[in-house]
Amino acid sequence: MEIVHQDRWELSEIAVTIAREAAQHVATRRAEVFGDNAFDERGDDSPEAVSTKSTPTDPVTVVDTETERFVRDRLARLRPGDTVLGEEYGGGAGAPGAVRWVVDPIDGTVNFLYGVPAYAVSIGAQVDGVSVAGAVADVVGGTVYAASLGGGARAISADGTVRRLRANPITDPALALVATGFGYSRQRRERQGAVLAQVLPQVRDVRRIGSAALDLCMVASGRADAHFEHGLSPWDWAAGALIAQEAGATVIVPGPDSNSDDGALTLAVAPAIADRFIEILRGAGGLENL
Ligand code: IPD
Repeated sequence: MEIVHQDRWELSEIAVTIAREAAQHVATRRAEVFGDNAFDERGDDSPEAVSTKSTPTDPVTVVDTETERFVRDRLARLRPGDTVLGEEYGGGAGAPGAVRWVVDPIDGTVNFLYGVPAYAVSIGAQVDGVSVAGAVADVVGGTVYAASLGGGARAISADGTVRRLRANPITDPALALVATGFGYSRQRRERQGAVLAQVLPQVRDVRRIGSAALDLCMVASGRADAHFEHGLSPWDWAAGALIAQEAGATVIVPGPDSNSDDGALTLAVAPAIADRFIEILRGAGGLENL
């Protein structure tokens, strides 16, 4: 079954609706589970609310798991029969040509845990591993970023104002503000640090916000000129990379069958500096899997 333009727009509207509702849930539950307390008090009050995944520094909270269940329930009602791949509960590849939803209930879980206001709900719709629609809801900022393939990218503010997104017209990579991020394993971090050490002197500055989905939306909205990271999972980039692409950024994503273990590159970069920024990455070893 071919997914046409109108279908992709409708998928993006569904993603917006559910991401906004889920973001509200995340905000409400953060206050209920963790309050405004500092780390010590929070840890003492609710040790059962946080556990770890791939490494001791890779957290998952009760709010991650319950928010993914919330999103899955909403999708089952609005899109019965579609496959779902989620960060916390996994999922399959989906049938050829059919829609698969790719869900990160909280991208930026470490920020969520510490109360750093940069975490988001990310919901992408893919067909054969290619993103065709998606939304990223900034929980604290209240903006929902969205796109459909061929339909452009937009930001919907908390007050309902909608604006089209365009990546920056920057022409000199030496003036680029570059967002990046790091995996949870020590070995990958060593390799990522080595690449970054070579990129840093060649650009304006770097930012490590802590949410790849929001980093990609920052490129889309002109708050950063590039974002790159190796080893992201599909749920980190499925929506945000499409939003950056539809805002005019040059985008590279891991292949449809890739997973985070491959250490493949995800890149979104303002179009007029793309070729030269990719050369900077190549010189730093950043086009290889890390
Ligand atoms: C993480 C964030 C972070 C990135 C990590 C991701 P999570 O996602 O996107 O910015 O650097 O690689 O794993 O764990 O908070 O959903």
